[in-house]
Amino acid sequence: MTLKSLPAWNALEAHFQQIRNTHLRDLFAAGDKESPKRVERFTISGAGLGFDFSKHRIDDKTLPLLIDLARATGVEARRDAMFAGEIVNPTEQRAVLHVALRSHDVNAPFAKEVQAERVKMAVFADKVRNGTWTGHTGKPIRHIVNIGIGGSDLGPKMVTHALHHFADPKLKSYFVSNVDGADLQRVLEQIDPETTLAVIVSKTFTTQETMTNARSLREWFASNGVSEANMAKHFVGVSANTAEVVKFGIAEANVFQMWDWVGGRYSLWSAVGLSIMLSIGPKHFDDLLAGAERMDRHFREAPLERNLPVVMGLLGIWYRNFFGAQSQLVAPYSEAMHFLPSYLQQLEMESNGKSAELDGTMVDYPTAAVIWGEPGTNGQHAFFQMIHQGPTLIPIDFIAVLTAEHPLPNHHDKLLANCFAQSEALMLGRTVEEARKIAGPDRPDLVPHIVFPGNRPSTTIVLDELSPQSLGALIALYEHKVLVQGTIWNVNSFDQWGVELGKILGKVVEADLTADQPVAATKHDSSTTALIAKARAKAGR
Ligand code: F6P
Repeated sequence: MTLKSLPAWNALEAHFQQIRNTHLRDLFAAGDKESPKRVERFTISGAGLGFDFSKHRIDDKTLPLLIDLARATGVEARRDAMFAGEIVNPTEQRAVLHVALRSHDVNAPFAKEVQAERVKMAVFADKVRNGTWTGHTGKPIRHIVNIGIGGSDLGPKMVTHALHHFADPKLKSYFVSNVDGADLQRVLEQIDPETTLAVIVSKTFTTQETMTNARSLREWFASNGVSEANMAKHFVGVSANTAEVVKFGIAEANVFQMWDWVGGRYSLWSAVGLSIMLSIGPKHFDDLLAGAERMDRHFREAPLERNLPVVMGLLGIWYRNFFGAQSQLVAPYSEAMHFLPSYLQQLEMESNGKSAELDGTMVDYPTAAVIWGEPGTNGQHAFFQMIHQGPTLIPIDFIAVLTAEHPLPNHHDKLLANCFAQSEALMLGRTVEEARKIAGPDRPDLVPHIVFPGNRPSTTIVLDELSPQSLGALIALYEHKVLVQGTIWNVNSFDQWGVELGKILGKVVEADLTADQPVAATKHDSSTTALIAKARAKAGR
């Protein structure tokens, strides 16, 4: 049976027709008269996170209907298959076991390997952090340069930045991902070859950007007097492809293992998180894993209607597939979580941005929404205008942290006030009568410009504090949301064939850009041929 012919889908479609024009203002007015109030009926918690979804365009019938859809599409079975280590990535014939990386269950799949690698990481991180591991001149390490891209960059960068208040202030972390040399150059200008450790992270160890940056960094060390023998003091590798790491020149003892059953975008819990551990230390890294493991337990055990990843995933389906929302905004009211939206872009869009169903048929419904965002309050002064008054519906995840991680007074109340006020304003809007009063009798022309339609939905995710535990739980929440949605859309959330074609053509174009002879006019389309010719001419070729 196809998704759209399921009785659960049709029931939702019928319900959508009834509720599509209902205003949140009215839902609150009615719901707050009842006991328990609307907010109590539509707030759940799990793994230490609060999840207020009362400002969504749902009534008491909506969630049960969405849960029926989750059941009809086998969300529970897919979840259990993933945790059991079954092949849930069929195109690559792989199990998907990032959850095993944070499990403390000795019977979890690959428990021994995971534990051994974590111990190896911790021993190494302690040596670097306490100065036992030094650079080639005997000085302690002060700069950690993580070189990787996609999942080998975004997760470690996002977490290291978010947990800066747990970092060892003696160690400064840098992340280089872009093949644009400007990225590495910016870092080279800040580091010292005597006190820098490079962590080269690549599951495949063949990724063009990462290998180019890694080679340039090695040349930089060499040009600063570091001999080949001494390079070992300054390079470690993280990969599932030890042979390639060794070929690059990193000793096998300095290779940290990941496995093919960990997808890049789900890998920060593995040795891919070595830069995180170097920054915050093994104990806090363990706490990060423990927070994620707590969310894993919640996902497996909580009833579906009180299950954060399930409810979050279903709300996404509600807007994407019924309201036709094209995007989902993530607004962490936390500067520390600056890189969360870009991390989630890969997590959600690389996972569920697919058109082929598991059996190879093409979907006749939209899949992954465009994920985007910026920390509040910055976004308010940039794009929130459109969310308030544009004709496009954009659901929002507000993320609020109740306590500040810094000592500055007079900031945090303002930050939280903005977060809560935005969700209230987006929900309520401003009516024509209210606008008329504000415009006054002299300016009726202003009225349409200062009316706010409201009825703009949002979730508010509440963290008591920004700690390794709460961040771990938050990341795992989004990971499992992806599984819930991917299951309903019936796509493989764990492969990424879509990035292949660009990579293949990139190699062809690079060869044409750098070849001695100009490229034949018939090899590419006329636009690509002209762009290559322009770049060749500028480079004097
Ligand atoms: O962009 C495709 C991709 O394969 C991502 O899935 C992955 O996170 C990234 O490239 C980096 O890959 P690797 O870790 O193998 O260098």
